[in-house]
Amino acid sequence: MTGKEDFLRTLKEQRDAAPQPQVEKRQGLLDNVVGAVGGLLGSIAQSVNPDNRRPEEGYEFIAPGPDDSRGPCPGLNLLANHGYLPRDGFVNYEQVVEATSRGFNMGADLSTLLTVFSILANGDIADQSFYLGSGPGNVGGLNRHSTVEADVSPNREDYYLGCGDNHHISSRLFKQNTAFASEDANKEFTLETMAKQWAANAQFSQDNNPFLYFFPFPSIVALGAYAFYPNFFSNGTYGDGGVANFESISSIIGAKLNEETGEFEYVPERWPENWYRRSTPYGVIPALTDVLTRIYPAYLLPMPFGQLGSDNLSPQTILCVIYQGLQSIQPLALEGQTRSLTGAITWSLGKLADVGLSDTILGCPTSTLSNDWLVANASMAGGPLNPPTDYVENAGNNVFGQTYFCEAPTEPTCNNECSA
Ligand code: HEM
Repeated sequence: MTGKEDFLRTLKEQRDAAPQPQVEKRQGLLDNVVGAVGGLLGSIAQSVNPDNRRPEEGYEFIAPGPDDSRGPCPGLNLLANHGYLPRDGFVNYEQVVEATSRGFNMGADLSTLLTVFSILANGDIADQSFYLGSGPGNVGGLNRHSTVEADVSPNREDYYLGCGDNHHISSRLFKQNTAFASEDANKEFTLETMAKQWAANAQFSQDNNPFLYFFPFPSIVALGAYAFYPNFFSNGTYGDGGVANFESISSIIGAKLNEETGEFEYVPERWPENWYRRSTPYGVIPALTDVLTRIYPAYLLPMPFGQLGSDNLSPQTILCVIYQGLQSIQPLALEGQTRSLTGAITWSLGKLADVGLSDTILGCPTSTLSNDWLVANASMAGGPLNPPTDYVENAGNNVFGQTYFCEAPTEPTCNNECSA
């Protein structure tokens, strides 16, 4: 049996062994989305430090133009729309670490981890840069699938089912998310609300996406993003008086309700009035702890973690597996040039070591490099190694002012706009 067959068999065994709670059908709630939203507006954080108010003076919102690059990350899109990042969406390492801290109080270890992977897999190592959406010619950028962008995102469709559109807000997903928030006692997008969203999305992808790709690093980014909703988008500090209400969340992720249709239009991300960032940094360890204890248990979608199902699954073991996952990433600039790969990995490991995420601390072996894609059917149409033309066309930068995916794409849906 080959290593890949072995790996796939282990995955299947993990999936079969994991308890899979049934996710209730929520269609009734979705139909009532307009009514549900009414109770989700309102309260603004009390007792906040005025220094944390955002945006600061001189960082006004300006909607992106057609040539500005925007993609799957609402946090980075917003920072570019407010001028904390270059408004054209072509960003570099220093800018991202600085802007994510200043705008949202993201810990430097977390922003470094995300940025290093993005530069390595989606950008240009020479000037440590990447595009927020798609690079020139629809190549690279954060839209590039299965590198940092992953399946089972909170409010974006899977790459395969969305026909390459993994980066616009999906109206049906945010309707579902809003319905879950309406079940919360304070009608907020809490960790519990986001855990329900995770469970529903994971089950949907497992049922419908034959190319579901859930490899450690991108999958942890997708999972982390569920915890980012309350922790970064709350008005004030989540867990310390901050409120993760509809008003903040919908404005920051750019979901504008059309009260006539009950669908969400995707508009440029911006801070709402009178908004305060969290007062303390949120870094790698609290993020992974929230993911492990509050989000992932709601649905145990199998990942290639040997520790799955045992007490050994911890932030440290996840970091270690992520660290090793660097070996399987195909850097954008280096496809087919394996001789340069070692240099790229050395660069990225050095950056991670600077913020304390080094192999010495985590005890992870870094000796073997591999270019393998861990998907058995990677070359089939729609697979990661063989995207059809429609998929490539859909990989372009975000187009705002449209509504995408009013219905769940149970099979690849290339005609995804539903504004009319
Ligand atoms: C530090 C650099 C960052 C990088 C490189 C990055 C990259 C990404 C990427 C590639 C995705 C798509 C993941 C997926 O497929 O689910 C994503 C999603 C997301 N990011 Fe970021 N991100 C960064 C910082 C931030 C910050 C500062 C925030 C919050 C303030 C944030 C919030 C989110 C959220 C909530 C999503 C999920 C969007 C959705 O599907 O609803 N990110 N990010």
